[in-house]
Amino acid sequence: MNSSPIRVLVVDDDEDDFILIRDTFREIQDCQYLLSWVETADEVVGRLASEKFDVCLCDYRLGPVSGLDLIKDLREKGSDCPVILVTGDSQREIDLAATDVGANDYMEKSGISSDRLERVIRFSIAQVERRRRKRTEEVAEEISKLKSAFLAMVTHELRTPLNAVIGFSQLIKDQTLGPLGDATYVEYANNIYNSGQNLLGLIDDVLDVSKIDFGEAQLHEESIDVHETVQSIVAIVAVRAQEADVALLLEVAGDLPPLYADPRKFKQVLINLLNNAVKFTLPGGKVTLKVWAGSDSGYVFQIIDTGIGIAFSDIPKALAPFQQVDSDLNRQFEGTGLGLPLSKSLVELHGGYLDLQSEVGVGTTVTVRFPAGRGTGSTVGTQANEQPERKSA
Ligand SMILES: Nc1ncnc2c1ncn2[C@@H]1O[C@H](COP(=O)(O)OP(=O)(O)OP(=O)(O)O)[C@@H](O)[C@H]1O
Ligand SMILES: [Mg+2]
Repeated sequence: MNSSPIRVLVVDDDEDDFILIRDTFREIQDCQYLLSWVETADEVVGRLASEKFDVCLCDYRLGPVSGLDLIKDLREKGSDCPVILVTGDSQREIDLAATDVGANDYMEKSGISSDRLERVIRFSIAQVERRRRKRTEEVAEEISKLKSAFLAMVTHELRTPLNAVIGFSQLIKDQTLGPLGDATYVEYANNIYNSGQNLLGLIDDVLDVSKIDFGEAQLHEESIDVHETVQSIVAIVAVRAQEADVALLLEVAGDLPPLYADPRKFKQVLINLLNNAVKFTLPGGKVTLKVWAGSDSGYVFQIIDTGIGIAFSDIPKALAPFQQVDSDLNRQFEGTGLGLPLSKSLVELHGGYLDLQSEVGVGTTVTVRFPAGRGTGSTVGTQANEQPERKSA
């Protein structure tokens, strides 16, 4: 049973009755109780507010007030401590009234036994704990919904002016309506355009996360030519890899079936993961993308880097939205902390899963596995393409 003692507040104006209750508690086996005794109703509210009690045993007759008044008062003041009303003799009306005012159980002194006392206390505490847990879950869910709704609203409002910024800066940088004169203006317009695009990308990520939170994300699936898509993604990431002096290698199985997935979301996953691999790898390191498919393995994309790695205890943080492992304000790597959790959610939306293995100073391997059924071609299922062929990007 419970290892720490159960703290009980006994409210009884009769010392003999308290001694009777205390002796009954002493007969209970396997469980420890810490009893506190108060004689008047006036003291109860203060005691419950200043100390933590697991349960309160409240006498029906408390001098000028009744136990029912006290329980009613406690509930009105917001206390949810389990309260058991104890009466001298059995009275159906008091039993019913006890439920009405918010008591958790009702017991007669004449019928008190250690077994019954133990059981009534255990059930009352369990009942209140269940209620508290449910309330906590409801509050957390409510907060999460509000947060998602707020993010969706803000990002939606930001998109409209941002589209104007992007659209007009594009007209200016392309000098669509005539030459700008000074070349620096063209450069500035380019900067505005690129920053706008980056911000739009971030806003779209936030929108995607909130849609997934809300269960509103939808897949627009089609058959994807994986070779072609991988080439186009690698072309984007290769520029960054070259700048960072990180080698980008491809080991893609030759005979891959089409992948049945949402093309935009699939690309987003690979770009996020490859960008991370390049970003968190020091100059001279390497990033490898392996792709293979099989009936047992499913459709697998593995991104392996020789980068800085993530400590085992930090992996949950890396996978949580808006969190970065090294969250120092002057951290050396830019980012919002959305890429990894978003990728994980997007893969799970496809019925697949994302696994991250890492070792500090050695590197990180992220494995994305789509169910075998998403490899729509006939070649899935042959063992021949389990072995990726080597080639360089
Ligand atoms: N390949 C990796 N090697 C080492 N650390 C990584 C790697 N991938 C992710 N991380 C860690 O996990 C954190 C979260 O990654 P995530 O992609 O979500 O965010 P980000 O790259 O910082 O920002 P964003 O992707 O939103 O631009 C990173 O900040 C980094 O600390
Ligand atoms: Mg990232």
